[in-house]
Amino acid sequence: MHGKFITFEGIDGSGKSTQLRMLANELRIRGFNVLPTCEPGGTPLGRRLREAFLETEETVSPLAELLLFAADRAQHVNFLVKPAVAEGKIVISDRFADATFAYQGAGRGFSETMVNQVIELATGGLKPDLTLFFDLPVAIALTRTDSRTDAGEQKNRMDKENAGFYERVRESYLQIAANEPDRFRVIDANGSTSEIQTRVVEIVAEFLGNE
Ligand code: ADP
Ligand code: TYD
Repeated sequence: MHGKFITFEGIDGSGKSTQLRMLANELRIRGFNVLPTCEPGGTPLGRRLREAFLETEETVSPLAELLLFAADRAQHVNFLVKPAVAEGKIVISDRFADATFAYQGAGRGFSETMVNQVIELATGGLKPDLTLFFDLPVAIALTRTDSRTDAGEQKNRMDKENAGFYERVRESYLQIAANEPDRFRVIDANGSTSEIQTRVVEIVAEFLGNE
């Protein structure tokens, strides 16, 4: 079987990482060869970039941020995603290019044309076969990320943005989802972990079954 490239998107705190872990386990039980990964930080270079520009107190210019996410992605696509898909793996990435469109485009204010050019350059035109968007009201997502911080996790620079920023990001994701209904599935992320897992497994199993 030819591999597949599946991505998870959503604002911070929407539950993507939790669901990605659960889906990867479930698919393995069902006999699929799964490779979970993430952006930024899916490769050794990407992890170093992530630390340098995300986990820092230093002011990072919006343009540097846009290009560093792109650099992380170019490395990820070439050395991890493409080879694994070619080997027949189901690659599931916690975020990909739609995050740049939503965060650097709608969030930071770069034009769609510029953001799309940078995405094209970094991905060489690679698109996910399926994208799940975990949709959650901003206020609930912020409560979740705050409790993650209370539990001891460090906030990165993006976690410190205000509600208005995340509202723009969420609207932008909903717009991409509406524009690309064949690739996107919007999941109501305002439920229990197990309710959402049932829905995620249903969608992905149907997608893999139909391929
Ligand atoms: P993301 O990767 O989208 O930022 P996480 O999976 O890290 O989100 O979840 C953010 C926080 O919310 C974590 O503390 C996690 O334990 C919690 N969480 C995840 N899913 C749910 C859920 N369905 N209901 C309540 N809390 C959740
Ligand atoms: P991370 O801790 O991985 O996010 P999450 O809270 O979803 O687990 O941090 C990644 C941050 O980087 C997150 O705030 C989204 C942001 N980001 C962008 O702004 N642009 C991008 O292209 C990507 C991949 C991520």
